[in-house]
Order: sequence, then C-alpha cells, then structure tokens
Amino acid sequence: MQTRRLTTSEADIRSAGELIRSGRLVAFPTETVYGLGADATNAEAVKSIYAAKGRPSDNPMIVHIAEISGLSELVKGGYEAVPELALDAMKAFWPGPLTIILPKSDEVPSVTTGGLNTVAIRMPENETARRLIAAAGTPIAAPSANLSGKPSPTRDTDVLEDMDGRIDAVIMGEDCNVGIESTVVDMTGEVPTILRPGFITAEALGEALGTEVIYDESLFDKHELAEPSEGVSEGDFQPKSPGMKYKHYSPNASVKLIEGDNKKFEAVALELAKQALQEGRKAAILNYEEDARAAAHKLFADMRELDRQGYDLILIRAIDEVGLGFSVMNRMLKSAGYDVVE
Ligand code: TXA
Ligand code: MG
Repeated sequence: MQTRRLTTSEADIRSAGELIRSGRLVAFPTETVYGLGADATNAEAVKSIYAAKGRPSDNPMIVHIAEISGLSELVKGGYEAVPELALDAMKAFWPGPLTIILPKSDEVPSVTTGGLNTVAIRMPENETARRLIAAAGTPIAAPSANLSGKPSPTRDTDVLEDMDGRIDAVIMGEDCNVGIESTVVDMTGEVPTILRPGFITAEALGEALGTEVIYDESLFDKHELAEPSEGVSEGDFQPKSPGMKYKHYSPNASVKLIEGDNKKFEAVALELAKQALQEGRKAAILNYEEDARAAAHKLFADMRELDRQGYDLILIRAIDEVGLGFSVMNRMLKSAGYDVVE
C-alpha cells in the first residue's frame, strides 16, 4: 500500500476526512502522541487498525470527538445519562489529554471497545486533530500510531518509521507537545479511577472535581507483560484497562532504569556503559534530572532516536514518582521491563 503524505492545508484535511469516512486509516497529530484514526462507527475500518498495528483484539480504542455534541451517540442513554462528575471533568480538562470511560451505546461497535460494554472518549486539543474529526463528520477511533509494543510516536517521521506502507495516509504535522498519552479515567463507578496515568495527574483531577480520585491497583503491580504479537493474553493479570497487560513502549535497545541523585546515577551509568562496551554493546545515557515535563516530552522520541543510531542499551535516570513523574515512570518502567538498579 502507498501511504500518502498529507499536509495540514484545508484541501488535505478534507481529503483525510474523506478517507476516514470511506473506512480508511489516517494517522494524525494530537497534543499527546500521534493517533492512528479510523471511523469509530465502522467495525471493518476499526478491525483494520488492529491489523496495521499488530494489536491484540481485546485492547480497546479511544474514541475522539471534536464537540460535546459528539457524546450523545457514544454514551448509553445519551448526553442526559452522563454523570455530573464526568461533565465536571470534561468542563475542566476538555479539550485536552483526558480520556473518560463511560457505558457505551449500541452505536459503538464492539470491536471498537475490544468487546467491553464501556467506551473511552477523548476530545483532543490539537487543532489539526479537531479539524480532521470535523472534516470526517464521525467520531474517530485512534490508538497511538506505532506498531504494537513500540514507543508511541511523537513526530510525523516516527509514524512513518512504523506505518509507512501499512496505512492510507499520514497528516505530516507538528511534534506532539505533551509527548506521553492521555490520562484514562474510569467514571462508570462511584469513585473516579485512573486506569492509565497521563499528563493530567490524579491530584489535578481530584482538585477540579472536589472529590477523591484513585489509581487502579493494577498500576502498582509489576507483572510480566505479554508480547502483543502473541495475540489476546489469557494470563492471571487482567487489569481493567486491557492495554496495560501488554509489553509496551519498548525500543529495540534494552532499557535499564537507575535510581539515585545525579552523582550516583552518573557513576553507576558510566560503570554499566563501560561494561557493555567490553561486551561489544553500545550504551547511551539519558538523564532528565527531576524535570518530569521534559522527560514526558522527550522520552519516546529519544528512545526512537537512539534505536536509529544503533544503540544496544539505554541507561535512564529514574525520576520521582510524584505528579507527572508517576506517569512518566509508568512508561519508563514498562520500557525497561521493570529492570531497575537501586
Ligand atoms: O493520548 C492518547 O490517549 C492517544 C492519542 C492518539 O489520543 N491514544 C492512545 O491510545 O494512547 P491507545 O490505544 O494507545 O491507548 C488506549 C488505552 C489502552 O490502555 C486501553 O486499554 C485503554 O485506553 N482503554 C480504551 N478503552 C477502554 C475501556 N473501555 N475500558 C478500559 N480501558 C480502555
Ligand atoms: Mg498505545
């Protein structure tokens, strides 16, 4: 398949919208990471996303909308049935990097939700993403636009690296500002529960809602993660967010996290890098210091860049697991397969 490179011009966004409407796949920028979009209401189109990514079919998609009016057809019982607390979350953080899980309507095909009776909904802030959704005239199901298991793409060139020849088009747009995926919060129960930590922290969400927000306990389990290529995983570890049980964010190089202050980190990293070199392996060192914002913005792009340069080992300084640091560490720990030097 030829993958078309589209720009953000009016004419190209219109073409991209037409492609989505006719059941094709188009990758596009959002403020978090690039998404791989298809018409969320078209089961065949959504199936082809799983194929293009090599994604296990029990891992549900996030459905993207551009206007609040888009909620009604997705949520069971329509807009009136959306809980007050969920509306408050939308008012506080939409458009933006927050994904809200609600009971799904019958309009949403079950392939879109990986067979679940809930649907994940997000209204992105990125202008190109919003123009595309409007041009398509339909909600867009979009996982991150990487091959399953790889770091998420935060630049158009990263998308091409994984998806060239596998999808119909890529909108060549800006680099993603946030750099890690949206926060996924389950609002189907009494207490809002974060299933995937992201840019919006539990603290920020709790403050905006004036209520307790908890993290799903599976986030604290350091389970062995299944290879996405093995298909639907049937192990003991079945978190509420099915995506969390698969191996994720893994560059070709192996990744090791190192805890400690700058000085200790440097000493240990240099020692390990020297050892690796003796074994004929090239090691790179990444230190974001205590800057969670910068780490979020650069982590995935850095890992992809180091892969391109042929590194075998990436040594990363761990950051404090507070606020945004908790979300960044969630990605770093998975990249490293929980290999941490204390
Ligand atoms: O920032 C983002 O969220 C990006 C951009 C493109 O919007 N999208 C993204 O999608 O990260 P994806 O497919 O890579 O991750 C979606 C996550 C997975 O962990 C999935 O299991 C979870 O959301 N999820 C989706 N629908 C769900 C549902 N109904 N219940 C529980 N978890 C759900
Ligand atoms: Mg993903």
